[in-house]
Amino acid sequence: MRSPKDFFAPLAVGAPQPPRQIPALPSRMIHFFDPSNEKMATKVPDLAKKVDVLLGNLEDAVKADRKEAARAGLVRIAKENDFGGTQLWTRINSLDSPWVLDDLITLVTEIGDKLDVIMVPKVEGAADIHYVDRLLAQLEARAGLRRPLLVHAILETASGVANVEEIAGASPRMQGISLGPADLAASRRMKTTRVGGGHPGYLVRTDPVGDDLHAGRTTYQQDLWHYTVARMVDACVLNGILPYYGPFGDIRDVVACEDQFRNAFLLGCVGAWSLHPAQIDIAKKVFSPAPDDVAWARKVIAAMGDGTGAVMIDGKMQDDASVKQCRVVAELADALAERDPELAQAYDAATEEALS
Ligand code: GLV
Ligand code: MG
Repeated sequence: MRSPKDFFAPLAVGAPQPPRQIPALPSRMIHFFDPSNEKMATKVPDLAKKVDVLLGNLEDAVKADRKEAARAGLVRIAKENDFGGTQLWTRINSLDSPWVLDDLITLVTEIGDKLDVIMVPKVEGAADIHYVDRLLAQLEARAGLRRPLLVHAILETASGVANVEEIAGASPRMQGISLGPADLAASRRMKTTRVGGGHPGYLVRTDPVGDDLHAGRTTYQQDLWHYTVARMVDACVLNGILPYYGPFGDIRDVVACEDQFRNAFLLGCVGAWSLHPAQIDIAKKVFSPAPDDVAWARKVIAAMGDGTGAVMIDGKMQDDASVKQCRVVAELADALAERDPELAQAYDAATEEALS
């Protein structure tokens, strides 16, 4: 580990100063697209208007013989488009692959000024982040970049989960971590075959009634990802970075997707991946606080004044801890409202009603 005194020093002469704070920019959905797909490329300008983050995917889901086309496609798309307030991210190939070195060299050199965040898959420990950190600093210095690129790790190996706290704190560039349930299930040798979501076999059952072990016993499906998401959220918060749920592979099942996203939201995640346009609206709905919750949060904040002491609102006791929770909701709402006039209006209308 670097000493605290050196932690924020650039890792190469001429590289930009690493960030001291990670900006909490709206990132409700990280929308994946395949830059090797020509048809997809034509949709990018429209997609950019609908999402918070657009991610050019170079890793899994891009066939080996399309890797170079995907990299070149992303360079072209980034150069040809103005993304406005939408962030542009990429997912590079894994660090043990034959493509990753060229991914980093090409992307930082050609479009380092357009990219915001580099997502690194299959991170196993802090050493992986240190490798990327130094290489990025060297490439940034050579390209003359003035703004440091940020790094996002996918939590998708058993080793990564065991080391998640050190990964989250491995570099000032760390922007966030996403759960990668598909690779994580494979790495853990879990007996599932899905990309995220639950499994009907993972359940608890009420006690038997009398001698019949089958009759009258209700079962409840459990969340396979609860432990990992909760641990990831703690590791991220501890280090001032942002946690995300990853992919939900059953595109047709918009209902379970919404449930999975909402569990992640309630546990502290700020966004999820969208793999299909149908999932963009789900993420938008789930990761934007509801207007009534925002109105309530604003009402509690107003009533609590300097935040100390306690007040009763509608029969519910509010104190320091509840006003802090309300501030989380209200600050997120303000950031989203800046980007989304419809949401801003809904929040203001609900607040007016709550305060009247
Ligand atoms: C994502 O990359 C996953 O493996 O779930
Ligand atoms: Mg994966």
